[in-house]
Amino acid sequence: MGRIMQVLRGGTLALESTNRPKVRAAEEIPSCSLGFKKQVQTFWQGSPCDSWFTEEAPGTAAFYQTLDEHRYTVHPSLHKAVCFEKTRGLRVLEIGCGCGSEAERFARAGAHYTAVDLTNAAVSITQRRFQLAGLKGRFVQGDAENLPFGDDSFDLVYSHGVLHHTPDTARTIREVHRVLGPGGRAKIMLYYRDSFNYQVNLRVVRRLRAQMLRTQAGLKVAKMIWHEPEEELKRHAELIKQDPGSYLDMQNMLNRNTDGPDNPLSQVFSRESAAEMFHQFQNVKTEVMFWNPNWLPGVGKLLPHAIEEKLASRWGWHLWIHAQKRNLEFTAQWTTAQTKGLETRVLAEALAN
Ligand SMILES: C[S@@+](CC[C@H](N)C(=O)[O-])C[C@H]1O[C@@H](n2cnc3c(N)ncnc32)[C@H](O)[C@@H]1O
Repeated sequence: MGRIMQVLRGGTLALESTNRPKVRAAEEIPSCSLGFKKQVQTFWQGSPCDSWFTEEAPGTAAFYQTLDEHRYTVHPSLHKAVCFEKTRGLRVLEIGCGCGSEAERFARAGAHYTAVDLTNAAVSITQRRFQLAGLKGRFVQGDAENLPFGDDSFDLVYSHGVLHHTPDTARTIREVHRVLGPGGRAKIMLYYRDSFNYQVNLRVVRRLRAQMLRTQAGLKVAKMIWHEPEEELKRHAELIKQDPGSYLDMQNMLNRNTDGPDNPLSQVFSRESAAEMFHQFQNVKTEVMFWNPNWLPGVGKLLPHAIEEKLASRWGWHLWIHAQKRNLEFTAQWTTAQTKGLETRVLAEALAN
């Protein structure tokens, strides 16, 4: 029987039946993961991504415009990485649409665009953007670990800064593979473990800053150095006072110092661990991008653009993975060999040659 998925129509959630072969039922997902996922959902429901960068009223044209201006100033390489102009006529799925900046660009480029996000907030704010712009799209509230779409439904799956926030990232990559058609492409951005932000800023600088935030004077100095909103710094200070040991634990440093002090989960990936997750794909390429001048307080903003670019490509925070699902012939051989019990990695190597 078809499963149930939630679809936003006219800003309200409706239930729709879909056929979803090969998808694990929710009750098969470990319950600890479900509880954690609920925390992730509650966090992002309360603060749709990027919305904090504008003071315009949510859902107004000015809101989307200011948000996009900020986004593409901070991420100047994003257009080049995505190549919107090559998506005309393609069935594009975006996982974790946030406030819909790329969504609008895909739709304007002529793609058949679908958004899926864990939260109603992101889905409805993206849908509102489309209504204002007179664009067509499909908007679905759902979970990347259990995508509410049938096999071979899309030509491109795009996801920017999303899949490292869900407990089972490897499972989401298997889901991306499943919903892509043969030859379909994935463009996924995950946080990079071998980055300046993780290895230096979070491991060392932010830990020292945590000590600073324990006093009022330190809090004022931190505000001058990092130019972060006072409320946010105060929240960090509160969490440090509550349980300093737990705050300084590296997983918590990562959670609390990437997407806000109450962010329940962030993860980092090396090029190798990402490649491992994409082993079912072919033409897997990784590239590193995004440098934040605030990581070098005082001098960061003085660096010439060319140096910033160099730093971004080696020590940047965003690990992009570009990959392609193999064609049908390969998939058939793969399935046959798998049923014969051959080991996956040996099999991949044999079939690639
Ligand atoms: C950091 S925001 C990124 C949004 C957007 N892609 C961007 O770059 O601005 C993370 C988004 O991922 C969504 N998300 C987190 N876990 C998810 C999951 N398991 N399935 C679908 N969406 C998820 C959140 O609801 C949130 O909208």
